[in-house]
Amino acid sequence: MKIVKTVADLRKGIEAAKQEGKRVGFVPTMGALHNGHLSLVKQAVEATDFVVVSVFVNPNQFNNATDLDRYPRDLNRDAQMLQTVNCELLFAPDVKEVYPEEDTRQFEFGNLDKVMEGQFRPGHFNGVAQVVSRLFDMVNPDKAFFGMKDFQQLAIIRAMVKQLNLNVQIVPCEIVREEDGLAMSSRNTLLNSGQRKNAPIIARTLFESCKFASDLNFNELKSKVISSINEDEELEVEYFEIVDGNTLQSIDNWNESDYIVGCIAVFAGEVRLIDNVTYKNTDHEH
Ligand code: PAJ
Repeated sequence: MKIVKTVADLRKGIEAAKQEGKRVGFVPTMGALHNGHLSLVKQAVEATDFVVVSVFVNPNQFNNATDLDRYPRDLNRDAQMLQTVNCELLFAPDVKEVYPEEDTRQFEFGNLDKVMEGQFRPGHFNGVAQVVSRLFDMVNPDKAFFGMKDFQQLAIIRAMVKQLNLNVQIVPCEIVREEDGLAMSSRNTLLNSGQRKNAPIIARTLFESCKFASDLNFNELKSKVISSINEDEELEVEYFEIVDGNTLQSIDNWNESDYIVGCIAVFAGEVRLIDNVTYKNTDHEH
């Protein structure tokens, strides 16, 4: 695996692969890699011929300076992990390389970036769109892989690809979980032992809720999920929304959509965790 830090070196490596007729797969990350990230890389290795992973903690998508400061960083460890899964090229630029000048573009995503994460992290998805559009321009991938853990992010990326008319296939990848159900996340390392012990209650409650979901109306379902998580002294729900999986519009009953997803954000102390569960999916495009 080659490690490059500049766009010029990145483009050189990719051009050489493209000239050999290789299809390029791309997995953008912010590093502090775990098996969730690696599963994306493995799927990229399966589906394409030359896999590029970026590790870049994008300042533009953090709406909280402490969160940016505390974000875990360990490039050597990331590189070692990527060696084990046949990544060909690791792109680890610094901020000036990605943003030689300030990016002032404002994307328009309608409802998609107003709800849920968008409501509680203003500007976050605009920063995600800024960096991912830049990375797509640098890498020019045939396919790019994104985790369903960041469900709303996936919808934003799809909308951005449509708006900018980019020629890249977006591949959604299943959520990878710890054995106790907790969705893998770089932020899990920031949990203290009590928080870590109780954090799996989030996933467990979501899974449990699938069993009784269809017997309840959405308000009952929402309050039941929220109150059972809030009962735990370590956890505090920020939002739990039941939405159409394509439009992310909040919905009120089971017949309103073929694709229904419950999305949650929970604080464990200062650490913010997100997760989601699919209640219904008879929309076979997804
Ligand atoms: P990051 O949080 O590092 O995640 C990189 C990719 O890994 C995302 O597509 C995310 O959904 C996926 N991922 C994280 N945890 C996962 C899990 N447990 N199971 C499956 N996939 C998982 O998301 C970002 O970085 C950034 O916003 C980025 C897209 C790189 C733009 O800066």
